[in-house]
Amino acid sequence: MLSIRSHFLNHFNDAPAFIVKSPGRINLIGEHIDYNHGFVLPAAIDKFIEVAIGKRTDGTIHMVAVDLGETILLPMHNLTPHATVWVNYIIGVVDQVLNTENNVASIENNVAKIKDEFNGGFNICVQGNIPLGAGLSSSAALECAVLFALNELYSLSFTKMQMALMAQSAEHTFAGVHCGLMDMFASLHGEKNKAILLDCDSLAFTYYPLALNDYSIVLFDTQIKHALASSEYNTRRLECERGLKLIQEKYPTVKTFRDISIEQVETCLASNDINGSKVYQRCKYVVEEMQRVQLAVQDLEKSDMKAFGKKMFETHKGLSNLYEVSCPELDFLVEAVANNENVLGARMMGGGFGGCTINIIKKSAVEEITKALTASYAQLMHKELAVYITSIEEGTHLVAE
Ligand code: GLA
Repeated sequence: MLSIRSHFLNHFNDAPAFIVKSPGRINLIGEHIDYNHGFVLPAAIDKFIEVAIGKRTDGTIHMVAVDLGETILLPMHNLTPHATVWVNYIIGVVDQVLNTENNVASIENNVAKIKDEFNGGFNICVQGNIPLGAGLSSSAALECAVLFALNELYSLSFTKMQMALMAQSAEHTFAGVHCGLMDMFASLHGEKNKAILLDCDSLAFTYYPLALNDYSIVLFDTQIKHALASSEYNTRRLECERGLKLIQEKYPTVKTFRDISIEQVETCLASNDINGSKVYQRCKYVVEEMQRVQLAVQDLEKSDMKAFGKKMFETHKGLSNLYEVSCPELDFLVEAVANNENVLGARMMGGGFGGCTINIIKKSAVEEITKALTASYAQLMHKELAVYITSIEEGTHLVAE
């Protein structure tokens, strides 16, 4: 694979000012919880997006997606969502930097000068090895890489958390997915061999060393992404908001899902026939998952990965039966390893409707399990399984030339 530096040189006849690498993420537990103000436990992985960037002076953004062999040029201003999907992850964050008043106000240096230079536009080359649509947050990695690169290029002085929040807004406005903060947060804040417990309410976070010893984190990729993934994602978010509102009508002191007990879900939503049982099911899952994450963190503190793994299986059940974001392929992959003594835990990961399962598997058994699963997945689901044995790596960073 030609280096991103060489690609940049070939395309622009000039060396890039900066090269930035931004990873994809896994999430150990706490799924569909970030936008409900709970705790999540993600980590950055050894799959990444790389960008090379350099300034222009003619008010144009010249974008090259190396892997796709596509080039797009756009003027810096009046940016609106583009028909080419990957372009939105770049111009979405540019729009954030240009137009979000708070962001501009937080630039401590000479705002006018920076804006002037920034208005000149930039050249950017992108490549990566995060499989697209696998639920490993390739889009967040791209947004974070671009923001981090712009931050360096124009000395914008954004913190990692500010950049995570801007990337999240970009995803809302330019990609139309009303995602939570987890993916961008994890890509930017990752540290080697550490999972990060993020409080999605206060945005406080703590690093947890992941001592997996004889175990590996293995991702089984269904290699499918059902078309309804983003519309159903937004629907889940609305269903949760509806449930929260109904509970607040009876319990006005409740601010977020963090304040809700299972009993309150039962009292307010179990027999609510305005919305059928869906709102009830979604909220029951959210409250149960929030409690599960708290217990799972205690397991982690005691290095009891067996107990931790059991909770991953419980999360899968909840996501499949109550939250209804799984699919036959994901259920198949989890059920196939559920009674295997060498698998501590397995569950679908990320938004759902395809993508990967995350598994904690004894190192000595990975090869055998992978072989058997690849064969049965091909035979029964008629698809090819992709397998990623994953390591936990550092978050978005500059690459030394
Ligand atoms: C997607 C979203 C995240 C999060 C997960 C589910 O990855 O981008 O914000 O909600 O789904 O946990």
